[in-house]
Amino acid sequence: MRIIGTGSALPKTIVTNEMLSEFLDTSDEWITTRTGIKSRHVISDEQLEDLGAEAAMKALEMSGLGVEDIDLFIVSNVVSENITPGVSCVVAEKIGLSCPMFDINCACPGFIYALDMAEAYYKAGKVKNVLIACIEEPTRMASWDDRATCVLFGDGAGAVVLTAGDNIKGTKLNAQPDTDKLYMRRVLESTPYIKKAEFDIPLQMRGREVFRFAVGACTNGVKSLLDEVGISKDDVSWFMVHQANKRIIDSIIDFMQVPSDRFPVNIQDHGNSSSASCPILLDECNRKGLFKQGDIIVLSAFGAGLLSGAAVLEW
Ligand code: UT7
Repeated sequence: MRIIGTGSALPKTIVTNEMLSEFLDTSDEWITTRTGIKSRHVISDEQLEDLGAEAAMKALEMSGLGVEDIDLFIVSNVVSENITPGVSCVVAEKIGLSCPMFDINCACPGFIYALDMAEAYYKAGKVKNVLIACIEEPTRMASWDDRATCVLFGDGAGAVVLTAGDNIKGTKLNAQPDTDKLYMRRVLESTPYIKKAEFDIPLQMRGREVFRFAVGACTNGVKSLLDEVGISKDDVSWFMVHQANKRIIDSIIDFMQVPSDRFPVNIQDHGNSSSASCPILLDECNRKGLFKQGDIIVLSAFGAGLLSGAAVLEW
């Protein structure tokens, strides 16, 4: 397939590190040096699905296609207020889309998983045009009393439109199931057979272990995918890496021995927006005119699961 449109949408409230240090035992100095984050967009009176609809419509507008042209809609989302129907249906209702659709929950690498699925459906001859939207509000997963997690996240939505083409050179998904490193649990309703004894558990993270996993998953995943498709890292124009922590990105750059100016970053303004991170970065770079036709772009993301994935595209 080939990406012919990108879009993104952000909540209007911007929370700086200084604002966080007014009610948390933290500081701009700690957050900046440990993560590279300076501020993040946080959902307040917006609805998550409105951000999803806005990002999707911007991507469609750029693509020149209309909702009636889309054959499949894939939404990547970790949490939302809609348990059922999926967020894909809620967004589709807003934008007047009625093709087959589904949600996936593959945490931060959700965009790469969605790209892989779109390509598989396309290669199977089932679709020509696919809309992917990654719609995330991780600020509503963390406890805002927990300085070790809540400072890391920001909300937003990113979308792409894909059509027939030969520009996805390869995708590689990876899983190392290990569910106590990064998780959140919700209590379901009581039944006559199960008492609602537990409490919800907000996002929990073993930061250092996730950090190590992230660096290894990205460097190994990207290397093996580039080997598989026969492209040298020196021929890659842009490495679009999940914006979880600037120090993670710096470690990846060190391991891969690639010039750092080939790693665009926007983490300073967004924090970690889960699966929306890569498509928001893609859209920002695209709208700034960073990509030239023929550029080789590597996408890589990692997160809860523990899941990771990489993709190689020709722009
Ligand atoms: O999407 C993928 C999901 N997540 C990630 O990729 C995150 C991966 N991990 C990380 O990015 C880093 O591990 C963190 C940014 C989460 C933490 O950085 P760290 O260098 O690993 O710090 P740490 O957890 O080892 O904590 C060091 C100290 C601790 O204090 P003590 O025990 O040394 O006294 C923490 O309590 O920093 C303290 N700390 C803070 N201090 C000020 C933790 N959070 C904060 C904070 N402000 N916000």
